[in-house]
Amino acid sequence: MPASVILGAQWGDEGKGKITDLLSEKADIVVRYQGGNNAGHTIVIGDQKFALSLIPSGVLYPTVTPVIGNGVVVDPRWFFEEKAALTKRGIDPSKVKISNNAHLIMPYHRKLDAVIERYLGSAMIGTTKRGIGPAYTDKFSRVGIRIQDLFDEKIFLEKLDVALKMKNKILVKVYNQLPLDFEEIAEEYLGYADRLAPHVTDTSLLVYDAITSGKNVLFEGGQGTLLDIDHGTYPFVTSSNPTAGGAPVGIGVGPTLIDNVIGVTKAYISRVGTGPFPTELLDETGDAMIDIGGEYGVVTGRRRRCGWLDMVALRYSARINGLTEIALTKLDVLSHFDPIKIATAYTANGETYTEFPRQQRVLYECEPQYEELPGWNVDISKVNRWEDLPANARAYVERVEELAGVPIRTVSVGPGRIATLDREA
Ligand code: IMP
Repeated sequence: MPASVILGAQWGDEGKGKITDLLSEKADIVVRYQGGNNAGHTIVIGDQKFALSLIPSGVLYPTVTPVIGNGVVVDPRWFFEEKAALTKRGIDPSKVKISNNAHLIMPYHRKLDAVIERYLGSAMIGTTKRGIGPAYTDKFSRVGIRIQDLFDEKIFLEKLDVALKMKNKILVKVYNQLPLDFEEIAEEYLGYADRLAPHVTDTSLLVYDAITSGKNVLFEGGQGTLLDIDHGTYPFVTSSNPTAGGAPVGIGVGPTLIDNVIGVTKAYISRVGTGPFPTELLDETGDAMIDIGGEYGVVTGRRRRCGWLDMVALRYSARINGLTEIALTKLDVLSHFDPIKIATAYTANGETYTEFPRQQRVLYECEPQYEELPGWNVDISKVNRWEDLPANARAYVERVEELAGVPIRTVSVGPGRIATLDREA
């Protein structure tokens, strides 16, 4: 491992939680580097299911220090709720570390997220309404409030005053909302300081020291490559950089310290929210994928859009992230389909695209070009060795690997920890 990034190679919801959880077994530290409680990780251990949004999934291992890096936006209310839920189930979250430089999600961010979406109407992004975009907007506009500000009351109140006056004007005059109360927010947030204090530290130094002393560190990306603010299908993206480049920035270590980049991809593809999706299936095959794959959002419960695996997008993802390996998830879902299709190119206006098109309009207009592979038509969810998979299932994985140009080292055939085939073993 020593320092590895694990990230979503598609539009999020690739099953990263499970793969991260498996790698966490060997990790000393698991770090989130971007996003916030918009992420949704489901981890199944035995007959127990854990759904985490903000706290890194490494928390489930007693030997792991889970870290929330400076690139994450933190909703403290949510943090304490998630912490309490974990404690109730016998998991110890006291070891979670949070960067002093992480930005806070404030009540006006949540409010703005909701009213902006409503204002956008049919042009809405379909956000999680957790205040993510507005919190990052403030960070980059330099009116954000950081975790460390909670420990300096004077500074905190000054910053809140500046930010809230501005936000209330926008809420009242643009969006016709009631203003938010300064005292109420100040009291709530300053009340978090003492409770957050044991968690807050210089996480950049913590991670640097760990990597340079030979410990195993996992950088856990939320969302996915195609939701990246720079490299995704803008504006239908999240407001951070889930791609590998976001990791060194979002934790504060140099890129030379990262050894591996693991891209998690489903054996098909899905997205939530709006935006282009070339291989989307709006027919009964798509409905079957949603139902069989249990494709409903962990965070919002929304029905995900589903389609065949898109190799144009996956190759793009491999390039943008510098993937060193792929973990392929939910192969078992494809047991129900025959034949199985893989998109290898798009065509639009007489042109063939084997690379992600630079003009986004093409993604709406294109026809995916499919290669068909025979299905295997048997349940593979109990298989626990690569060699025991049906030949057609192995052929599918090998074809994806060949088209991606990146080795597939892990194949997942079910939600539990044991339903994982390690091709290196
Ligand atoms: P936001 O991150 O809440 O601002 O939402 C922006 C877009 O990213 C929307 O399309 C969301 O549905 C999508 N999104 C955010 N988090 C996730 C995730 O963890 N998985 C999949 N999609 C996500």
